[in-house]
Amino acid sequence: MSYTEDFDRSLSDPESFWRTQAASVDWHTPPAAIFKDGRWFVDGELNTSWLALDFHVENGRGDQDALIYDSPVTGTKQRYTYRELLEEVGRAAGALQRSGLTQGDRVVIYMPMVPEAVIAMLACARVGAIHSLVFGGFAAPELASRIDDAEPRLLITASCGIEFDRVIPYKPLVDDALELADHNVEHVIFLLRDQCEVSLSVNETSWTDFVADADPVEAVPVAATDPLYILYTSGTTGKPKGVVRDHGGHAVALRYSMSLVYGVGPGDVFWSASDVGWVVGHSYIVYAPLLTGCTTVLFEGKPVRTPDAGTFWRIISEYGVNVFFTAPTAFRAVRKEDPEAAMMKGHDLSSLRTLFLAGERTDPSTYEWLVDILGIPVVDHWWQTETGWPIAASPVGIEALAMKSGSANFPMPGFDVRILDENHIEQEAGSEGDVVIRLPLPPGCLPTVWRDHERFEKSYLSIHPGYYHTGDGGYFDEDGYLFIMGRTDDVINVAGHRLSTGEMEEIVAAHPAVAECAVIGIGDSDKGQVPVGLMVLKDGANIDARSLQSELVAAVRAHVGGIANFKRAVVVQRLPKTRSGKILRQVIRKIADNQAYDPPATIDDPAILEEIKDRLVDEGVGLVALSPE
Ligand code: COA
Ligand code: AMP
Repeated sequence: MSYTEDFDRSLSDPESFWRTQAASVDWHTPPAAIFKDGRWFVDGELNTSWLALDFHVENGRGDQDALIYDSPVTGTKQRYTYRELLEEVGRAAGALQRSGLTQGDRVVIYMPMVPEAVIAMLACARVGAIHSLVFGGFAAPELASRIDDAEPRLLITASCGIEFDRVIPYKPLVDDALELADHNVEHVIFLLRDQCEVSLSVNETSWTDFVADADPVEAVPVAATDPLYILYTSGTTGKPKGVVRDHGGHAVALRYSMSLVYGVGPGDVFWSASDVGWVVGHSYIVYAPLLTGCTTVLFEGKPVRTPDAGTFWRIISEYGVNVFFTAPTAFRAVRKEDPEAAMMKGHDLSSLRTLFLAGERTDPSTYEWLVDILGIPVVDHWWQTETGWPIAASPVGIEALAMKSGSANFPMPGFDVRILDENHIEQEAGSEGDVVIRLPLPPGCLPTVWRDHERFEKSYLSIHPGYYHTGDGGYFDEDGYLFIMGRTDDVINVAGHRLSTGEMEEIVAAHPAVAECAVIGIGDSDKGQVPVGLMVLKDGANIDARSLQSELVAAVRAHVGGIANFKRAVVVQRLPKTRSGKILRQVIRKIADNQAYDPPATIDDPAILEEIKDRLVDEGVGLVALSPE
């Protein structure tokens, strides 16, 4: 079997190709129809929690570690075998049922990186409830908007998260979110952590009491097309999109991706240093490793300062990690602290076969550094919340293909990637355009947006008819390597976190002194991109640039969260517009972008800010005031 054979067969005869892949999943009722009316495996039945736990216990893996929790921020290390994890999940599922939750009900999970987050996810899957995780770094209004859209009966949360040595109490955030939300959540469950106590009120229960004495329940078979989860992601507007993932296509695609892309099998140790609140965490901390019978590592900490830049190396050697996956920004942080990789010394990294990077394009300098210090294949691979698994990668599991620095490598089987211009004309090698995927999308990708199919069609399917619009721009080179160069819409990637500049614009525009504004992403050597606000003030607005900047920084932080990294707001005389009055954001972005600097710099560098200011003035944006630090 070769990559080319698999790829060609997946496109020429998708039904037969995915029928073969579906055989690797132990269905409750195997699907007879592979693809019908735009959905995969429509008449199949299965349970994702059963496949991730019971299947392995029944097949002799009960005593193997399923989950290793390593939390330098709390000084905790804990292991769960498959049998132990099954017991915990069975009991939590019993508690969910006891609380009256039934199939199809939603549960919002707003938790830090703790085992209970994984247990809650698998418990929901076990009873056919739909979970929706909200990343713990989001502020209350973000949580509230997701609660209003998903309409959960339960909210499962914790008393706090921990950022380096800072305890972040969740109760005030949760209280605010529930106050802001129109939807009424029936019950809130708090995991009470030693680092932060809370007093609970009516309709609030501790996790310990919630699961106490609950009878474990068996997994309920659900339809392959039933939703397993909703995961909200940023789009062009302030309202996040509820990406729906179904049980059947998801299980098949993730199993396939583990052998094809990651070259991983049962018994391997897989570590994805992301967060369960992001798609990478859903797919490659929780579901794919457990569906495959691997040991997965759940890491609560940061690559630096927890306690130092040697944390990644310590974990890889301590648990014998075979495959590691993280975002380039995490390694940029490590490299900044330890450019010579001196902290690798003393750690046996011989177990590590491959490093995978995603979340943003890996800059060639970081890529070369990693190849140099590790001496193993380093794979930049590209995907999105919407697809749930890699669209492009190097198929390490079936063939060792040479990789090119700066490229996301090759489209994976099932993904017919094309490059189109605005008139839907396919582009030649070397020419940049919209990166699209010819329909149908393979199993595992979103079939719809939660309760808004019209938005799904409008956002993804209507821009280039017959194709899924990824929102990324890029090109194929002469050798067939795919280069993803960045978003063509209002989405930016800040330290591997996907954010909407449209949403930040709504917040900035709401300030009484602001007449109009544009928020754009500017290249940053640490975070990849950071948002910068450009504002035209109302006539007679009586506020100095420094105060305005601080108020806007505080407003974005309160609304979105610190992860937005919104730290710069610049007053300008005018914003370039089309004749019809539309602000030319793409044009401003190009003028101001910091990407071309060599060596790369951060936006906090005063010289860079001066340079950007000059360019904006030269291009007629007419900068009035650049707020000092
Ligand atoms: N809860 C509360 N606050 C959070 C948070 C969380 N889960 N995550 C981040 N924040 C806060 C940070 O503490 C920081 O606050 P500050 O402004 O008060 O200092 C702010 O949000 C910005 O965070 P970030 O940009 O993430 O910087 P960092 O220094 O905390 O971490 C990295 C840097 C590179 C380690 C981190 O961004 C990272 O791990 N990124 C990868 C993300 C990822 O895995 N993406 C998925 C693709 S693989
Ligand atoms: P998310 O949905 O949060 O996973 O973010 C998806 C977006 O991140 C993509 O649309 C890309 O813009 C970007 N992205 C992810 N991985 C890569 C990569 N390897 N190269 C370039 N961009 C990437």
